[in-house]
Amino acid sequence: MPGPIVIGSERSEAGIPAAMEILRNGGSALDAVERGLRLCEDDLADHYVGTGGLPNARGVVELDASIMVGSTKAFGAVAAVKGFPNPISIARKVMEQLPQHALLVGEGAEAFADYLGFARAELLTPEARELWLAQLKTVPTESIEGENTKATSGDERYRLASLELVKRMAPHEGPWGTINIIAMDKSGEIVCGVSTSGYPYKHPGRVGDSAVPGAGNYADLKVGAAACTGRGELALRGGTARTVIENMRAGMDPESACAAALLEARLLPDDFRAELRCLALSHDGRHGGAAGMTGSTYTLMTESSTGPEFIPRRAI
Ligand code: GLY
Repeated sequence: MPGPIVIGSERSEAGIPAAMEILRNGGSALDAVERGLRLCEDDLADHYVGTGGLPNARGVVELDASIMVGSTKAFGAVAAVKGFPNPISIARKVMEQLPQHALLVGEGAEAFADYLGFARAELLTPEARELWLAQLKTVPTESIEGENTKATSGDERYRLASLELVKRMAPHEGPWGTINIIAMDKSGEIVCGVSTSGYPYKHPGRVGDSAVPGAGNYADLKVGAAACTGRGELALRGGTARTVIENMRAGMDPESACAAALLEARLLPDDFRAELRCLALSHDGRHGGAAGMTGSTYTLMTESSTGPEFIPRRAI
């Protein structure tokens, strides 16, 4: 067996060492992925997952997460969940305890989490709130008044300013992106997990690729697993994670499979085009990633690693 091995997207290094520790001790890929992503979700300095994630346009943090098991293609996901810091664990419970369903959204997902006893918490940290308020302040008064000259009340002006943020899709200036972790355990099982607070200042209720099988997450033990970060609407429309898997099934190595999937997604017309990335792990332990810009990396640990290693992605 080529395992144990774990790979992850940029900033997954907050969770990858703990995931590898579980794998080294003979633990499951499922436990490793959940543990690794929980640590990323709890990292307050990370503004793209869990607590500290950047909010939607109205200042509310909404989280998406999913988990998929390669041998069974079992899948669990939650989307647009508010008030729960670890959506990856709720996604796992959807998969394990609600197998008649695969994806819960919004209030229904929150009710399920309440029922299971998950603790609620405030996810909007003061730092993330400041970043959001700073964005709101950049919306020029004219663009608000141009939309609705009757926008005289503070509340109405605020509502229009937040809608203007959605129209802009202004990216955040720091290290950005959803987090993927893919693990293979000693038995050869592969599990893929994805967690995100989604596009910063998104429209309330917007769900990206991270919660959707085939879009931002896919695992098929006969081939491997793949996951995406970046512009989720492209991965949703292109079925990008599944495309990576099908490219590998057709014989491509993981890096070439990722690059070809991104080139396919690039053909989609998109007025809001932004960076899309993917990474993949094959059933025989090969791995690779691709991105739209140079200098992008993914994170790797094997059983003999002393720490996370950063591997360049192919730039397309
Ligand atoms: N790729 C994450 C998102 O678009 O929400």
